[in-house]
Amino acid sequence: MIADNQIVLPDDPSVGPEVQVDYPGYRSTRLRAPKRPLVTSPEELHSLRGPVFGDESIEETDHDLTAQHEDEPLGERIVVSGRVLDEDGRPIRGALVEVWQANAAGRYRHDVDRHPAPLDPNFSGAGRVLTDADGSYRFVTIKPGSYPWGNHENAWRPAHIHFSIFGRAFTQRLVTQMYFPGDPLFEFDPIFHSVRDPKARELLVSSFDLETTTPEWALGYRWDIVLGRAGGTTPFETET
Ligand SMILES: [Fe+2]
Repeated sequence: MIADNQIVLPDDPSVGPEVQVDYPGYRSTRLRAPKRPLVTSPEELHSLRGPVFGDESIEETDHDLTAQHEDEPLGERIVVSGRVLDEDGRPIRGALVEVWQANAAGRYRHDVDRHPAPLDPNFSGAGRVLTDADGSYRFVTIKPGSYPWGNHENAWRPAHIHFSIFGRAFTQRLVTQMYFPGDPLFEFDPIFHSVRDPKARELLVSSFDLETTTPEWALGYRWDIVLGRAGGTTPFETET
């Protein structure tokens, strides 16, 4: 019997191997996880082109979450950039990369976020950009704070940025989370551990990068994203 306030990671032997997308440590998976076996889509669907987004749907400040209001948001300014690649390492051009995140105090600008941390009038926490010919994307933002999420006693999420990517084919749709290196909350986080392979989990953690770091202005983090269906691709969330 698992108590309601106990930390349960999906690799806990008491959870069982079959419930990696539905386990008590992440309560809402009980409602979201499929109850019936997954259906494999026919191979011919994998190559079908997905929705393609044009430049006209992107505003000038969409990639810069620090420039969407009258003043700058509070917090540690950072640059997050990387490349979107396919399984063969080829760049995916024109992929729509969208992000959303908490502010520096760990609060989302969202009606149901009741964490008693301050909202920042200069931070909405959402951005979007299209990858260039090299498959590269770049966001300017502030480092998100950790926040409590109530799934177990003293439960705090590691700092993270939510990512959504629309690639060029239906198999290149991805929703996931990017983390920051060295976060002490990794070992307690059921969502991070819902990716059970430790090597795959590491693919969710960005790297501090001195080249992306801008002198006198912002620290830089790099995070590459691999879309596809074979092993070695960026792990995805199953809640979509
Ligand atoms: Fe979040």
